[in-house]
Amino acid sequence: MKYSSKLFIYIISGLIFLSSFLGMIYYGYKTFHIEEEAIVQREYTYHFALISEESDNKYWHMIERGASEFAAEHNIYLEYVAPQKADNDQLLKLLDRMISARVDGIITQGVEGRRFVDLAHKGLDRRIPIITIDTDIKSSARKAYVGTDNFQAGQLAGQTIIENTTGEQYVGIVTGRFEAINQQERIAGFKDAIKSSDRIHIVGVKESNITQIGAAQATYSLLKEHPEINALVGTSALDGIGIVEGLHEIVPNKNVYITAFDILPETIQLIEEGKIDATIAQYPEEMGYKAMEVMVELQSNDLLETQFFTETKIITKEEIEKLPWGEQK
Ligand code: BGC
Repeated sequence: MKYSSKLFIYIISGLIFLSSFLGMIYYGYKTFHIEEEAIVQREYTYHFALISEESDNKYWHMIERGASEFAAEHNIYLEYVAPQKADNDQLLKLLDRMISARVDGIITQGVEGRRFVDLAHKGLDRRIPIITIDTDIKSSARKAYVGTDNFQAGQLAGQTIIENTTGEQYVGIVTGRFEAINQQERIAGFKDAIKSSDRIHIVGVKESNITQIGAAQATYSLLKEHPEINALVGTSALDGIGIVEGLHEIVPNKNVYITAFDILPETIQLIEEGKIDATIAQYPEEMGYKAMEVMVELQSNDLLETQFFTETKIITKEEIEKLPWGEQK
């Protein structure tokens, strides 16, 4: 080979080597730099878990939003987990898994039964504070409850019917799930409130499985079994919307007094349109935010107070018209 061709090959090889070498240094630096950034990002003050009744539920998303707001403000890593569809068994498994993962604190919906009580103990043994949110299990070792006073919220629903109707009222109740304690408490509160009136009668109670379609079907069977129904109460967030849908299908022109729960935008719209008469407002974002605040406090102290009730109130069309609707984010 000629000297000049050899030189040419050496130069090319040298250039290839040099560019690979520089590339290696450059990309190596970038990789480490990114990893460094990721490590920094992973340095949170605490790691908390929020366990909800059902992952894709608008009401629970509002709780999550409140909790995430607090998390962002305080550099906390918040893990939101939930069964895809409401299911106590799956929720309890998630709770167990979060305890095993040794997170710093767990905020969860309370679930009826021995297993929840045992898991709350397990959390306590491992020094993982557990807070119930939305639904309380007072008999468990949970460190605190944040949410609505569900018995009182049920009373408000009863009060609404007493105050806004005249004559005999035959009430059908559409409830989220029979096994959910908060639903049981709301119904108990409702019964307690109507005790004082002899013209309000509960004629049937059916489950919606916390879905709109379930509430529409429950409405349908309630009306089929009890055509005398002239008042319907929905005790979970999508029930009022489902009741309207169900009624529209079966008896669009029947005059039924409807009380709903929660202030999802659809519910508010139906109140504005005069299709729902009243709703019992809960403040899920506030619950989420407050629960995180309480959880941070629990990282260093036990609390004297263990029940933190968030606000509940009756909202009617008049209320909505009076208010600049700023309460709902
Ligand atoms: C209840 C929650 C329930 C939700 C269902 C709310 O009114 O407080 O427990 O998961 O409705 O949409």
